[in-house]
Order: sequence, then C-alpha cells, then structure tokens
Amino acid sequence: MSYLLGIDIGTSSTKTVLFNTSGEVMASAMDVYPLYQPRNGWAEQDSDDWWNAVVTSVKEVMAKSKINPKDIKGIGLSGQMHGLVMLGKEKKPIRRSIIWCDQRTALECEQITSLVGAEKLIEITANPALTGFTASKIIWIKNNEPEIYAKCEKILLPKDYIRFKLTGEFATEVSDGSGMQLLDIPKRKWSDYVLDKLDIDINLLGKVYESPEITGVVTKEAAELCGLCEGIPVVGGAGDQAASAIGNGIVKSGVVSATIGTSGVVFAHLDNIAIDKKGRVHTFCHAVPGAWHVMGVTQSAGLSYKWFRDNFMTAEKFTADQLETNPNVIIDKIAGSSPAGANGLIYLPYLMGERTPHLDADCRGVFFGLSGMHEKKDLLRAVMEGVVFSMNDCLGIIREMGTSPSFVYAAGGGANSPLWRQMMADIMNIEIAVNNSTESGALGVAILAGVGSGVYKDVVSACDSIIKRQDSQICQEKNRNLYEEMYKIYGNLYKSLKKDFVELAKINQKFFV
Ligand code: XUL
Repeated sequence: MSYLLGIDIGTSSTKTVLFNTSGEVMASAMDVYPLYQPRNGWAEQDSDDWWNAVVTSVKEVMAKSKINPKDIKGIGLSGQMHGLVMLGKEKKPIRRSIIWCDQRTALECEQITSLVGAEKLIEITANPALTGFTASKIIWIKNNEPEIYAKCEKILLPKDYIRFKLTGEFATEVSDGSGMQLLDIPKRKWSDYVLDKLDIDINLLGKVYESPEITGVVTKEAAELCGLCEGIPVVGGAGDQAASAIGNGIVKSGVVSATIGTSGVVFAHLDNIAIDKKGRVHTFCHAVPGAWHVMGVTQSAGLSYKWFRDNFMTAEKFTADQLETNPNVIIDKIAGSSPAGANGLIYLPYLMGERTPHLDADCRGVFFGLSGMHEKKDLLRAVMEGVVFSMNDCLGIIREMGTSPSFVYAAGGGANSPLWRQMMADIMNIEIAVNNSTESGALGVAILAGVGSGVYKDVVSACDSIIKRQDSQICQEKNRNLYEEMYKIYGNLYKSLKKDFVELAKINQKFFV
C-alpha cells in the first residue's frame, strides 16, 4: 500500500492527516498552540510551538494508523501564509514570528510603496503593499529591531520553517512565496528589482520551487523524532489557501470556493494572470504549476466567531464539554434561533483590520443597531452574517474581474455549519455546495506530494478522481430582499466610520500601548 501525509500548520493548530491514494483519511491528529497579542493589532506565535505540534501530531498519526512508515510516498506541507520566521547563527528562531494578521506595519507599507513605486509594485508583486504580507514585516524589524535584523541569517515562512526542521533544506514554493511580496508573480521567481529596492539580501531567502516539486527528504534526526523513516520526499506544498483550494478541486477556471477558517477567503483559479488594479483582492501563483489564482480575504472570519464564543459563550462551551458534544453544534442552534437579519443587528468583522475590499489596518469591529431587545443569540447571528457580508464583498470583486461561477464550494471549519452555509447562499445569492473533502488543506498538499512522488500524473487529474461534489443549498427567496438591504447598510457603515477608525487608532497608540 502507498500513503501520503499532509501537514497543515494553521493559526490555532497543526493538523496532520494520513491519506491513502484514493484520498481517504487513514488517521488524523491535531495539536493546538497559543496566539500572542501583546498590543492591539499585533499577532505573534512561537515557531517552535509549530514544530512541537508537528512532531506530536505526526507521531500520533503513525501510532493510530499502525502503517509502515516506508509506505509513505511523500509529505506535503500547508501553512498559514505571510508569517515572518527569522533564524540566526545556529539556525534557530531569533524572535517570535510576526504572523499574517498582525497589523503593525502601516508605515512600512508606505515606505515600500515609495521605494518600489506603487505601479511597479503591483506590476511585479501583483498587489499593493499590505500590512499582512511578509515584506512589510521584514522592514518593520529593520526599522524597529535592527539588532535582530543584524543577527538574521535566514528568512522563512511558517511551513518552510517546518520543511527546514524535517529536511534541513531552506526552500519555499510559489504559492506561499507570493504572499511575501518579494516574488515576481508573473515570472514565478524572486524579484531582483524589489529585493534591491528594499535592500534585502536574496541569500536570506530559500530556493523557490513549483508546489508539487520535491524540495528535500526527511532527515534521520527528524524521522526518529516523528516516527517516520529517513528519506521520505517532502514536496513544496502550498500556502493554506492554495492548499485548501487544491483539496477542494479549485483547479480550473470558473470554479470558486469560500473558506471560513480563522480568516475568510473567496478563491478562484486563473489560467491566465489577472490583477485588480485597485489591489482589493490578491493575485498569487497557484499551486497548480503554470496557473495563478485570485482571492479576497476577510481578516477575521472564524476569528470573529471564536472571539465571540470564547468571551461570551463559556457556559455553553462548558455544557457542551459535559455532554461531550462539539460546542459549535450547540452554538449553531442558538444562532439559528435568532431570525435572518439578527433582529436588525449588523456586525462589521474588522477585529484585526480588513483586507478585501478596504485594505485598512486601522478599522475595528462594530455592532450596529444594538437595542435593549437584543439577546446573545442576535449578537452571535450578527457575527456570522457580518462575516458573510464581508466575504460577499470578496465574491463581488472576483465577479467584477470576470469569473462567473455557477456555484461556490464552502470550505474550512465554518462550512461544517449548515446555518453558515445557508447564510452564504442567501447573502451571496448563489448555490453553495460542499464536497467529499473534509480535510481540504491537508488533502491538497497530500495530492501535491502524490504528484511530486509520481503517484498521480498531475494535479488536475488527481483532483478529478478524488474530489466529488456532494450536497448543496440554494438561496432562499424569503431572505433575499432583507439581506440585500442590510448589505447596503453594511457597506455604508465602513464609509461613515473610516475617519473615526483612524482617530481611534491614534488614541490606542497614545493611551493603550
Ligand atoms: C491569506 C491569509 C490567511 C492566512 C491564515 O492571505 O493571510 O489565509 O494564511 O489562514
């Protein structure tokens, strides 16, 4: 028998899944770690927490599955994108990783835009300078922690740090590399021009591969730690969004997914590169060799839900634990007991600023329309609807750019909620389908590992044989008008509040640092 291992290094946990070559789950394990928010808008993680979670979860999967590690033909890595890992002399992290949702780098984005030039930056990196992307984090370290920068010998993305720990190789691949804002997206290689303008030495960066290419093999030391065997090939893998897209079969033009993980992402495959001149959505290299993708990002999707659940629904969580039930099932029932439109309450999900469509690091979350009659269930429902309003902004721009899907695949943890999927169908006014892929991120990179190790011919044919469409939900006309009207107000709220978000950010800077 042959098997493939997918390791997905997420923001709240690492999930390791062993698949057979038909894409069926043989065993899986998850290990969680903390997110540090030392200041409003900052977000950091300890890179060795990811590595420890990889070791623990791979060991658990091997123990559960009882397979011979020699039967693993390849390993694929998926990872939260954009995070900055800096290694020093002994190839050890020299500070905590500043991760994707950190918003501290607004000034550095201005600096990057003026050094590279706004038009040139979009022409080469296909995106305007963004606080979430890695380049601005590197410049922030240069500006604010020069002693750390001086010690830095290697710069890696989160999953590429795991690659280094598994194989000893410094490498990345085009899909995740795209989110560093140092890659020439049309040419799929590091941009000498951007690196030169930002004065970043190319030797700090890993070698760039296409996503299914083999980048190295598991070392003896890593094999012993994880319960694997030496020499298993590790392919490029992908940034979490491209990985999950492969695992959902988003590998052909016109096929779109909407993923609710910590962030919310609407993702479309592109055979030919297309760039939004206003930079509201990201164009990146896809993990399908020679293809690109466009995606709109809601910064706080599952993050909003988790924030609300963890702060205001501890009793419900406790009850769920006592009943040995998934708390989200109970929480869904509670949200479903508030009517569509949450009794006139609107939530803006800007807990960590927003990317699509506003590109605004200063905006923050809002409940609008609160009344004495509102109950917790209304606030909860408004949070879920607000996330979908934001993802509808993303879909609108993707439609504007020429992709007209006939349905959208719901994916990520949020897709497990039938209520959230119905909100998507109603607010986006489109059929929302799910497929048989339950672990899309890990499956996506396991497929890439299968392509790299010769188990499958190519990514598209592997997806065609593994991923099958299942249930779908359609827009309920009774909610359509209500949501259309609420979505208009949702859009207006940001415009009305834009200036006040800036003022509040100044107050935060002055008084709450
Ligand atoms: C994509 C993005 C998120 C993170 C965490 O641009 O920032 O998807 O990768 O999920």
